[in-house]
Amino acid sequence: MASANPITEFQHAVERATSRGVDTIPVALATVGADGRPSLRIVLCKYVDERGFIFHTNYNSRKGRELAGNMTAALCFHWPTLEEQIRVEGTVEQLTAAESDGYFRERPRGSQIGAWASEQSAELPSREALEERYRRFEEKFAGVDVVRPPFWGGYRVVPDRVAFWYGRPDRLHDRVVYLQAGNNWRITRLFP
Ligand SMILES: Cc1cc2nc3c(=O)[nH]c(=O)nc-3n(C[C@H](O)[C@H](O)[C@H](O)COP(=O)(O)O)c2cc1C
Repeated sequence: MASANPITEFQHAVERATSRGVDTIPVALATVGADGRPSLRIVLCKYVDERGFIFHTNYNSRKGRELAGNMTAALCFHWPTLEEQIRVEGTVEQLTAAESDGYFRERPRGSQIGAWASEQSAELPSREALEERYRRFEEKFAGVDVVRPPFWGGYRVVPDRVAFWYGRPDRLHDRVVYLQAGNNWRITRLFP
């Protein structure tokens, strides 16, 4: 029996997966460039709230620039041990500065300094140049807390379509799709 709401269905899937030792946090994130070309990468989705799926990144990265031009995205979770896939599509919003600050504060100091040092997705002349930038920010923040870079923070994918794929014998897989319909969700099934 499918849950009434895709976030609840997702949380049940996470419970099933984590009880089997599956790391449910990495997810493939697709964005679209101004030229209509899709791009895809793995990010960490550590938080899911009642509004959507949250990840953190550099706002000036390729994905950040693509999202600035087109605030839609798709996520794809794949948990092979369970033979499950969850596909999320929706609009993307930036988290508030306070929300991003909260997450940044929880990160290890090295990652905080790394966030300052990385001009994510820009061309890097050499490995040394990155290490040199890391050292520079280590000195800058010596003895004080590392504040969040203004170009780094969270996004929330607010879903309007969530599709669950449950592997079943004889390729008769279950596909349950949640489509947003106003304030409700229309639940439908698709052929596998
Ligand atoms: C397991 C794993 C987890 C990752 N988590 C993140 C993440 O949470 N945020 C992030 O910006 N990049 C993360 N990355 C790196 C991205 O895949 C990607 O290389 C980077 O964000 C730059 O992507 P872009 O140039 O398309 O913006 C992760 C990579 C891997 C393999």
